[in-house]
Amino acid sequence: MGKGKVVLAFSGGLDTSICVPLLKEHYGFDEVITVAVDVGQPPEDIKTATDKGNKIADRHYTIDIKDRFVEEQLFPSIKANGSYEGYPMGTALARPLIAEEIVKIARKEGAESVAHGCTGKGNDQLRFDFVFRKEGLNIIAPMREMNLTREWEMDYAEKHGVPVPVVKAKPYSVDENCWSRSIEGGVLEKPENHPSNDIYAWTVSSKDAPDEPEEVRIGFEKGIPVSLNGKKMNGIDLILELNCIAGRNGVGRNDMIEDRILGLKAREIYEHPAATVLLKAHPDLERLVLSRQELAFKHIVDEKWSELGYMGLIHEPLFEALSAFVDKTQERVTGFVDVILYKGSVTVAGRSSPNALYSDDLVSFESKTIDQNDAVGFSAYYGFQARIKDMIAKTKSE
Ligand code: ARG
Repeated sequence: MGKGKVVLAFSGGLDTSICVPLLKEHYGFDEVITVAVDVGQPPEDIKTATDKGNKIADRHYTIDIKDRFVEEQLFPSIKANGSYEGYPMGTALARPLIAEEIVKIARKEGAESVAHGCTGKGNDQLRFDFVFRKEGLNIIAPMREMNLTREWEMDYAEKHGVPVPVVKAKPYSVDENCWSRSIEGGVLEKPENHPSNDIYAWTVSSKDAPDEPEEVRIGFEKGIPVSLNGKKMNGIDLILELNCIAGRNGVGRNDMIEDRILGLKAREIYEHPAATVLLKAHPDLERLVLSRQELAFKHIVDEKWSELGYMGLIHEPLFEALSAFVDKTQERVTGFVDVILYKGSVTVAGRSSPNALYSDDLVSFESKTIDQNDAVGFSAYYGFQARIKDMIAKTKSE
């Protein structure tokens, strides 16, 4: 008597591919059901995962949640200027939704066990497990439990006739969704090694970018990007198009040392062209419409929101409360931001909003709307306590 059904989060990559034979041979499951979740990976990767799942698993599902991913995770992340240690999160935002889709299939199939191909060293195991555990499912993580290395996995795949995209010469682990592409492993594990140009897929190097700058106008409504160069677009189309535009101008590469949740430092390389542009334009528009108090407090909220987002703790009550605060502030974040893309750089060139707190009539050197004499009284009390301190010191020394 075997162990029944297990539903595996499946990408078609090395780890999840060898999970299929492992879950049967090593764990004794009777049926392995693979699920590929489309969060905007390249269509050919989805096709590979689908074909492979259909071939090697007992049953396979491919589920397209691109729109849900954009609306429920990326839009909120733009509103909260979501970034962790200075880079726009991508994988972190996709994992919880992928996990939720796996849960749905497990329920549908009547499976009590779910599996993922995460190692015991990274963040993704925690992001998946958080959702699975909340649902009371039994979690199987072969890579983590068997302490497998990628070397061993490649040999095992070969022995079981499982085709894998990774070759020993280029053993990178790549994770992709429409917001971000991450590349790790292999020679990149030595932080002093310079990345070769062939690891990149979405961006050109700045030296290969066009010699002419390219300008893009981004329209925002309540904190969400809604148009490119005057053309109204839905979220996913806008992000994909902006990835192309910014990527061809060399915008959105990132090579960094990152602190993982467990405390391990890792060398991570990312491509996120659209995110780089939007996370430059959005806070710029906020500076035009939000008050000084709102901006200062929101900065703290954004940081905390991002930290919880990075940890995949999207059901943590604080995350919900912070998201409610962020949404409230975004009611006025409507307008346009013009950016110039040029050989890897993004520069804001102009911005406008019907809700701007900025008024050229008030601030201009040429205007008399404000009577400058009003500032004299304010100035008299300005830095008052510092002067009081001096006055007291003076009386004492006399
Ligand atoms: N370090 C990033 C994160 O924790 C990306 C990890 C992506 N995984 C991968 N196998 N490339 O969100």
